[in-house]
Amino acid sequence: MPLPLWTPDNRVPLFVFGLTTGVAVTAAFQYLYSSLSKRNQPPPPADYDPLPGNAVGGLRPDTQFESTIQRLEREFTINTSMLHNLVKAFTRDMERGLKRENSVIKMIPSYVERRPSGDETGTYLALDLGGSNFRVCEVTLLGKGQVRTRQKKFVVSEALKTGTGEQLFDFIADCVEQFMGELNIGKDTKLKMGFTFSFPVDQHALNKGNLFLWTKGFTASGVVGTDVVQLLQDAFHRKDLKIDVTALVNDTVGTLISHAYVDNATYMGVILGTGSNAAYVEKMENIPKWKGPPSSTGEMVINMEWGAWGQDGIILPTTAYDLKVDRASPNPRKQTYEKMISGMYLGEITRQILLDLISTGEIFGGRHCSALEAPYSFETAYMSRIERDHSMELTDTRTILEDLYGIKKTTLSDRRLIKRICQLIGTRAARLASIGIASVVTKMNRLHGCTVAVDGSVYEHYSYFRTRMIDALKELLGVNADNITLAQARDGSGQGAALIAALADHGEL
Ligand code: BGC
Repeated sequence: MPLPLWTPDNRVPLFVFGLTTGVAVTAAFQYLYSSLSKRNQPPPPADYDPLPGNAVGGLRPDTQFESTIQRLEREFTINTSMLHNLVKAFTRDMERGLKRENSVIKMIPSYVERRPSGDETGTYLALDLGGSNFRVCEVTLLGKGQVRTRQKKFVVSEALKTGTGEQLFDFIADCVEQFMGELNIGKDTKLKMGFTFSFPVDQHALNKGNLFLWTKGFTASGVVGTDVVQLLQDAFHRKDLKIDVTALVNDTVGTLISHAYVDNATYMGVILGTGSNAAYVEKMENIPKWKGPPSSTGEMVINMEWGAWGQDGIILPTTAYDLKVDRASPNPRKQTYEKMISGMYLGEITRQILLDLISTGEIFGGRHCSALEAPYSFETAYMSRIERDHSMELTDTRTILEDLYGIKKTTLSDRRLIKRICQLIGTRAARLASIGIASVVTKMNRLHGCTVAVDGSVYEHYSYFRTRMIDALKELLGVNADNITLAQARDGSGQGAALIAALADHGEL
């Protein structure tokens, strides 16, 4: 997964005090957690390679190696009792979000009041903006859960992510024009469009919503606080395109809806990719903050914006490494949960640990590695490869470290340590992600059975992620975990936006 290169911003000094306090509070919590739950350690992962009893690599005594690992295990392990406590806290924060505005988990009503029946038909455009790729799709709904899609992907450059909003939206309009040209769709054709915009938005109609804040490395100016549908519509006008944006959709909502088109047991959509978030179907009576018209179905899809969980700084067992990643990110003290579970950050947490262990001489004989100095230079995809490396000498891990990062003469002991670090970060992420799913499924009262549609590169490609999530769900839900199907969804968010545009077109929303 290509990750952006950022330079740390210059706000760091302002937060030194807050973060130092944060470290102390976090350390206290961790101590409490670990001492309360020593009896309750999760079993080591199936893919865990035990460490050899004798010295490996020969650079330092075994005891150093063991104690480094033990320290990291203590910091990064989420045991069963922590899982249970975190589910309680998560559920409480979900309920707060449904009651009032400005809660940590925002719980945003999406204005989508029904799931599709599977019989919807028609042709709609869909746009999907939410990460390094941007997609334009023409979606033809054929009924009976059948869809035909023609689409084109474009790369959103770093310059566009961090430039002005107008440049970003003009680029989107250019891509749409190019796509229509390639499909021989005349410029004057009147088309309806669903817009998947995968950032936190204060939605105030099906096709209106102001951006709360950018996430995932976007910082384009002039967009926060503004209606993003209006910005898109203005860019279309500048190009004389006759497109009517009729639905603004989060990718999680799109994933839920598109999966429900083929599997009507789907009540939740989750993204575990560059960023992370979830949407689910809630009963209107459980949304006291809703001031809009009554829903005809008595239900509403909620865009949770769960990535923000923990940003109040007291719940999640963050480590000093997490705080370092947070401090240097473009959105410090925001999206704490997302920064512990999503693909944009897992490699960066690992990089921070590696830099620390180099500085103390615990790996690479303390030799400095310039390729690791650049922020976000250690890709999450490499962690997954390292975890999959089961060779005796960890040869693929060596290729990554020596050939791709230019680290000379790594020892087997270095490589084992790094593999264990990847396992710890990857396992923590998967177990934390399960907390959100277990809480939602329980809150929906669907422990007897439902499908959770999950999309995103981490879920799809990161080694053992799914298995680790299922293990954690079993620890949390017992036998009921067997009733929850985690279904792989792929690229559903664009289709979902088209489906929602179709529902709106047929007067069903
Ligand atoms: C955004 C969400 C989005 C998620 C997954 C997060 O950073 O805040 O709106 O659903 O990423 O793309």
